[in-house]
Amino acid sequence: MSSRLLFPTCNLRLLITSLPSSSSALLKFKIPRMERARKSSSGSTNDTSTPKSSAKVEKFQQVLHSNPTTDGGWQKCWEEGLTPWDLGQPTPVLLHLHEKGEIPQGRALIPGCGTGYDVLAIAGPERYVVGLDVSETAIENALKFSSSANGKYFEFLKTDFFTWHPTELFDFIFDYTFFCAIEPDLRSSWAVKMRDFLKPGGELMTLMFPVSNHEGGPPYKVSVADYEDVLHPLGFKAISIVDNDMAVARRKGAEKLGRWKRPICQSSL
Ligand SMILES: C[S@@+](CC[C@H](N)C(=O)[O-])C[C@H]1O[C@@H](n2cnc3c(N)ncnc32)[C@H](O)[C@@H]1O
Repeated sequence: MSSRLLFPTCNLRLLITSLPSSSSALLKFKIPRMERARKSSSGSTNDTSTPKSSAKVEKFQQVLHSNPTTDGGWQKCWEEGLTPWDLGQPTPVLLHLHEKGEIPQGRALIPGCGTGYDVLAIAGPERYVVGLDVSETAIENALKFSSSANGKYFEFLKTDFFTWHPTELFDFIFDYTFFCAIEPDLRSSWAVKMRDFLKPGGELMTLMFPVSNHEGGPPYKVSVADYEDVLHPLGFKAISIVDNDMAVARRKGAEKLGRWKRPICQSSL
């Protein structure tokens, strides 16, 4: 599978026809505003189905891999509008589960939140959401949502996930294209942070992507075993791991939704 297929943006027409009817609310979900924000952050529609956008994915890979610092590469990608991962809307399966009331209430964290669509989508009186990203530009883009009706139920922080120390724990953490974005040798630290940031019994939801037999990423490919290798030693138990039937068209077959419970034991916070 080529990187061109892995970080597509959603083709809205395809998405609309492939979604179950129960997700009709997605169609109402402020798409015009999301589209505007996405265009202003990248200067294009990020449609990787064209040669121009495919080149963008390759350029993104080059910038990232030639820039070894954690924030440096990402900030440069954001500054240059090299954001081929950006769907321009909330993640369909997250929104669907939110609408069905299947996302834990309380405090939620979305690390590597990018433009922040998912933060905005699940924030409300029943759930306060913190979105964090190491890129200043990503956070500036996300902050444009602060005037939304539910603006008091979320916040965006420009910070490095690996050095951040929250003052309060979380009931729920959602990871989508963050695990695949970090250097593989940081995955154990990622798992420790997930454990430390969650309340005992809290839920970690990992939308695992790209899961396939291809070589490469972007930025790195992942497998269910990669998650198990770092989460099992810390006592996380998988509640379910299923194919994500609601993946956007070009990610279909390369995503698995994992729901993990943090063990009930002392946090290190
Ligand atoms: C592939 S993008 C995914 C963004 C978003 N989750 C989405 O699906 O649109 C990965 C994001 O993680 C952010 N990131 C990378 N390393 C980070 C770190 N150490 N701490 C916080 N954010 C980080 C990048 O700036 C980028 O926005």
